Amino acid sequence: MNTVYLDSDASDDVRRQRLYSGQLFVIPPRPSTLALCEFAKGMIQEAFGSIDPLEAQYHMSVEQYVSIVSPLKPKFIHDPETKKLLRAMVADCGCDLNETYLDVPRLRMVTSDGYLTSGVGYAHHLHRDTWYSAPMAQLNWWLPIYGIESESSMAFHPAYWSKGVKNGSSEFNYYTWNSDGRKNAAQHIKTDTRKQPKSEEKMELDPQIRLIVPPGGVILFSAAQMHSTVPNTSGRARYSIDFRTVNLADLRSGAAAPNVDSHPVGTSLRDFVRGSDGTPMPEDVVQEYDNAPAAEGVLVYRPPTA
Ligand SMILES: [Fe+2]
Repeated sequence: MNTVYLDSDASDDVRRQRLYSGQLFVIPPRPSTLALCEFAKGMIQEAFGSIDPLEAQYHMSVEQYVSIVSPLKPKFIHDPETKKLLRAMVADCGCDLNETYLDVPRLRMVTSDGYLTSGVGYAHHLHRDTWYSAPMAQLNWWLPIYGIESESSMAFHPAYWSKGVKNGSSEFNYYTWNSDGRKNAAQHIKTDTRKQPKSEEKMELDPQIRLIVPPGGVILFSAAQMHSTVPNTSGRARYSIDFRTVNLADLRSGAAAPNVDSHPVGTSLRDFVRGSDGTPMPEDVVQEYDNAPAAEGVLVYRPPTA
């Protein structure tokens, strides 16, 4: 059974437990979430100048589009204002910043009708973030910056919450991915050859749930949820922000979503810093979750500066 909690007044403690049991939460737009979205929107509009970012693909080559959006991603991540707005938003949404650790927020774009489907515009096939070395206690936050439609949304595939599938996660090494896969994203314009942990059996898209929230509305879900990017056929590009949180007490106690089929090497826990002051994740906690020799690859991915 899946429940979508809309504008719930549950505390963060209760909310996390429900998210770990596969439920979904929608937080309607509020000043703190809108502030982050408006900030991103300003950056996007500045980058495109007089061209409408939603329809830019009809006015330029895909190479030119990539040359505009690629620098936007690190620019958004590294701006101190982004960090400030993100922390304010997470606190405003009920999280205790002393216990809540955040990674950096990502800016994503999904163009329409297969204009750009690789590299920086990669549309994610059905996956769980936990196949990519996310801890089972990770929570994902997702916000659209402009209006979306069902044809440009993301989908959840709830039948897989409790049903494992054969997948390539055991061949995925997070530290190797950090050193090779990520930094090369912008080079993948026509095809994407980076090794990703995919399902290795036929997947059923249905039943699926698509939550259509207004700009600044937040979809909150467990990293263990099977989800995908809906192939955009809306005619307009989709721009969204996403980031992840983990709660320190839960990491220490082991409270988390059940693991039905995620077996990656390494952990992304080192990407998270304490919301209140940016303190790194305590190393003893990381060690609890790390299953790889530390010498392999790059432990923490530092996105390039703009
Ligand atoms: Fe994902």
